Amino acid sequence: MRDLSLHLLDILQNSLKAQALCIRISLMELTSEDTLVITIADDGRGMSAETLSRVQDPFFTTRTERKVGLGLSLFKAKARLTGGDLTITSTPGLGTTVRVTFGLSHIDRPPLGNLGLTFTTVLGFRQGLDLGLSYQRDHRNFSLTTEDLLQVLEEPSAFESPQVLAWIEDYIETAVQSLSTP
Ligand SMILES: Nc1ncnc2c1ncn2[C@@H]1O[C@H](COP(=O)(O)OP(=O)(O)O)[C@@H](O)[C@H]1O
Ligand SMILES: [Mg+2]
Repeated sequence: MRDLSLHLLDILQNSLKAQALCIRISLMELTSEDTLVITIADDGRGMSAETLSRVQDPFFTTRTERKVGLGLSLFKAKARLTGGDLTITSTPGLGTTVRVTFGLSHIDRPPLGNLGLTFTTVLGFRQGLDLGLSYQRDHRNFSLTTEDLLQVLEEPSAFESPQVLAWIEDYIETAVQSLSTP
């Protein structure tokens, strides 16, 4: 079973492919509403209305439309299994926002997985990327941006160091774990 951070990585790859320079990831667990809301907002090239409707068409995953890809539709199917959904808003030239909701306690809701690794993997892909992650569980919140990290690390080239990336991964994982245990 694929966890949410791997699906997230897939969505983030789309943003990178669309030449995004700024990406904001947000995960929000609301226990009172039994909902998990994930949004990924980028400032990439966006999609035409035609592409947008094709991407949201449940039949685009069939063989004839295979070129369009499977990432978003698979994620959408998983969200729907838990009573949630996936919606995309996009403006050509401005960017794209993907919003996914899950039934938080639903048995088919995939686990979060390693969010720290997803963050550092994307960070290692594009130099100068402005990346931000925020994780909220009810009233408690953790957030981290590349700007925060650069205040400590000073050199953008630090993001190329495996040791630095491992430290960031661990830092995020520790923070997320401490929030996700009630
Ligand atoms: N963030 C994005 N910005 C621009 N276009 C996007 C974005 N996400 C998805 N798309 C468009 O939707 C298509 C389908 O995405 P996806 O389901 O992940 O499959 P794939 O990436 O394999 O093509 C992409 O090929 C791209 O044209
Ligand atoms: Mg994709």
